Amino acid sequence: MKIAVLGGNGQLGQDVVAAFRAEGNEVASLSHQDIEISSADSVKQALENIRPEVVVNTAAFHHVDKCEADPATAFSVNGIGARNVAQVADQLGAKLVHISTDYVFDGMKRTPYVEQDSALPLNVYGNSKLSGECFVRTVNPRHFVVRVSAIYGTNPCRAKGGLNFVELMLKLSKEREELRVVDDEFVSPTPTAQIARQVAALSKTEDYGLYHATTEGSCSWYEFAAAIFELTGTKIRLERARPGEFPAKVPRPKYSVLENAALKSRSLNLLTHWREGLESYLAARAQTRMMSHV
Ligand SMILES: NC(=O)c1ccc[n+]([C@@H]2O[C@H](COP(=O)([O-])OP(=O)(O)OC[C@H]3O[C@@H](n4cnc5c(N)ncnc54)[C@H](OP(=O)(O)O)[C@@H]3O)[C@@H](O)[C@H]2O)c1
Repeated sequence: MKIAVLGGNGQLGQDVVAAFRAEGNEVASLSHQDIEISSADSVKQALENIRPEVVVNTAAFHHVDKCEADPATAFSVNGIGARNVAQVADQLGAKLVHISTDYVFDGMKRTPYVEQDSALPLNVYGNSKLSGECFVRTVNPRHFVVRVSAIYGTNPCRAKGGLNFVELMLKLSKEREELRVVDDEFVSPTPTAQIARQVAALSKTEDYGLYHATTEGSCSWYEFAAAIFELTGTKIRLERARPGEFPAKVPRPKYSVLENAALKSRSLNLLTHWREGLESYLAARAQTRMMSHV
């Protein structure tokens, strides 16, 4: 199959490219230099050159504080950009996998969100991504809208820069005697390699629709940090932060746990428990570090 991955040099995009290539597909990886999704002409030109059978759109303007400060760009990339991609994919007869986010929810629920739950974003980023979902669902009937959450991978997130949560914790543990981490935000941390395999599997089906794709179970960021230190044998004093100790400039959902109800109902769920996901990430990380010392 011929696949085009938008945001192909991003944190998730690189793993999506690798997952499709591992299955022997022909993959065009498009970076921001190759395509500007907010421009209909750019999208048309880039995708018409490739004529893919599947388009995976991981590209987004997703730095939450920057989106809040610049709603026009947020909607132009995450809303109109998603529409441009969906339209051209539809014209080319291509399936579309569109990556979305848990930030479409307000986080007021205390049980995992299913696909049927009403979205009510708290910020510009969430609203702009929700508008993108709506465009995709109305413009290209052959769509898979895949909501992911708290993602981390071996490639850095370009928008956030620097280190993912696991790497940040391990780095800080070498620099400090004590670490304080929030214990009132709940997530299902999900390795991008697992999402990539799920996207590749989903794209082979005709089971179009809206999907949640996160690991099983949930934890607070404090509990996730504790698991990272336990599994790596890292000695550090880890404390729960006081409520409000690290105030966010822009409101974010406190409870971001998603249930992969649609994947499970179609026997398509490939995602493991978050702890198993962390173990596999740490094993891959150790392997890479070993190779780089050879
Ligand atoms: N990271 C998270 O914690 C998280 C959580 C939930 C959902 N998501 C969603 O997951 C997806 C992938 O995130 P990620 O962590 O892989 O992000 P990332 O590393 O920042 O990658 C995003 C990619 O999109 C490209 N891009 C940005 N604006 C573009 C535009 N206007 N036109 C074309 N390409 C553009 C970026 O290129 P440049 O960097 O060169 O601009 C980059 O290659 C996004 O849809 C995001 O909304 C992320």
